Amino acid sequence: MRTQVAIIGAGPAGLLLGRLLDQAGIDTIILERRSQDYVLGRIRAGVLEQGSVDLLDRAGVGARMHTEGLVHDGVEFCFDGDRHRFDFHALIGRTVMVYGQTEVTRDLMHARDASGAKTIYEAQDVSLHEFGGASPRVRFVKDGVAHEIACDFIAGCDGYHGVSRASVPEEALRIYERVYPFGWLGILVDRPPVSDELIYAHHARGFALCSMRSPTRSRYYVQVSADEKTGAWSDDRFWDELRRRLDVETAERLVTGPSIEKSIAPLRSFVAEPLRFGRLFLAGDAAHIVPPTGAKGLNLALNDVGCLAEALAEFYGERSEAGINHYSDRVLKHVWKAERFSWWMTSILHTFPETDTFGRRIQRAEFDYLVGSEAASRSLAENYTGLPA
Ligand code: FAD
Ligand code: PHB
Repeated sequence: MRTQVAIIGAGPAGLLLGRLLDQAGIDTIILERRSQDYVLGRIRAGVLEQGSVDLLDRAGVGARMHTEGLVHDGVEFCFDGDRHRFDFHALIGRTVMVYGQTEVTRDLMHARDASGAKTIYEAQDVSLHEFGGASPRVRFVKDGVAHEIACDFIAGCDGYHGVSRASVPEEALRIYERVYPFGWLGILVDRPPVSDELIYAHHARGFALCSMRSPTRSRYYVQVSADEKTGAWSDDRFWDELRRRLDVETAERLVTGPSIEKSIAPLRSFVAEPLRFGRLFLAGDAAHIVPPTGAKGLNLALNDVGCLAEALAEFYGERSEAGINHYSDRVLKHVWKAERFSWWMTSILHTFPETDTFGRRIQRAEFDYLVGSEAASRSLAENYTGLPA
C-alpha cells in the first residue's frame, strides 16, 4: 500500500485531518486500533469554541452541528452555593457551541465514507518506521495478515496512550506533566438538563459540573479521588453527591433518572515537545493533555490538525517546507495558553487533598475577584470561548 499521509487514530484529530487533506487533494489512509462502534461509543467532550465551529464548517461537516448544537451565551460558576453567571456574549460578543464529540466524530466519519477515502478499523500492532528519512513506513496487522504502508508523512493522532509518541526516542522528547490526585466521575442521562447553561460548582466536598448534550440529554460530573471505581457508585449515590455540591435551588430542580453511561476520567496536564520528528507529526491528545475543566482538549486537537493540514497543503501545493518547519512552534504557543487556562480553572474549582483553610479562602477570594472585576470576567470569557491571540 502507498499513500501520501498515513494517519494513526480515527478520533476527532485523525478524522478532521483526513477530511482537510482530502479537500486539498492529498491522499490519506487512517489506521484505527478500535472498531467504528467503539470509537462512537466513547463519551467525552461537549463544548466547541467558535474557532472549532468555523473549522468544521470549512471542512464541510457543520450542517448537523448548526441544526442540533446548542449555542450558549455564557456559563455559571457556583461557589459554596453562591451562583454567578458570566455572560460571554455581553462581555466580549462571543459564544460557544454545545455539541458532543461523539456527534463531531460521526459527522466526520460520514464525510470520509462518502469520499471513499480509506479507513482501516481494528488495525492491530501498528508500528512506525524510518520517519527520520524521506520514506517512512507504517506496519500493522489486520485479520491476522501483516501489511505495510509506504508514505511521505505520518500523522500521530492516536491519543495519549497511542503508539506514535512512544515511537520517538526518549531523548528527543521533553515532557512536562502534572497528575492531579482526583478524577471526574461522569454520567449521561436521558433527562432534561437542570439549567439552560453549564454550571461549574466548587464545594468543600469537591467539584461538580452540570452539562448537557441536547434539551433532553444531560451530562453530569463529580470530582472523585483518583483510585475510585465506577462500581462503587450507584446512580442514587451519584445523584445524592451531585445535589450536595450544588446550590439549594439548582439541587431541587435536578431531574434524575437511570444513567445510560458512567465512567471515570483521570485529570492530567501534559505536554510533549517538540511535535515534529523528521516526517512524523504529533497532534491532539497524542501530544498534549489538559484537565477537562476548561473544555479545551477537543478544541486543541482540532486546532492542531487545522494547522497541520495547512502546512501539508503548502508542502504539496507550493513545494514549501516553511509550514511543516513551523508547525511545532506555532501549535505549542497555542497549547500552552490552553494549559495555563485549564490548570487555573482546575485550581480554583476543585478541592485539593493538601489544601489547608488558607488555601480554601484564597480559592474563595479568587472567585470573588472574578465576579467583581470586569477585566477578570472578560479574561475568563476570552479564554473559555477561544484563546487570546
Ligand atoms: P482521541 O479522541 O483519544 O483519539 C485517538 C484515537 O487513536 C482513538 O480512536 C484510539 O482508539 C486510537 N488509537 C490509540 N492507539 C492506537 C494505535 N496504537 N493504533 C491505532 N489507533 C490507535 N475537550 C474539549 O475540548 N471540551 C470538553 O468539553 C471536553 N470534555 C472532556 C470530558 C472528558 C470526561 C474527557 C475524558 C475528555 C474531555 N475533553 C474535552 C478532551 C477531548 O475528549 C480530547 O482532547 C479529544 O478526544 C482528543 O482527540 P484526539 O483525536 O486527539 O484523541
Ligand atoms: C461535557 O459536557 O462533557 C463537558 C463540558 C464542559 C467541560 C468538560 C466536559 O469543561
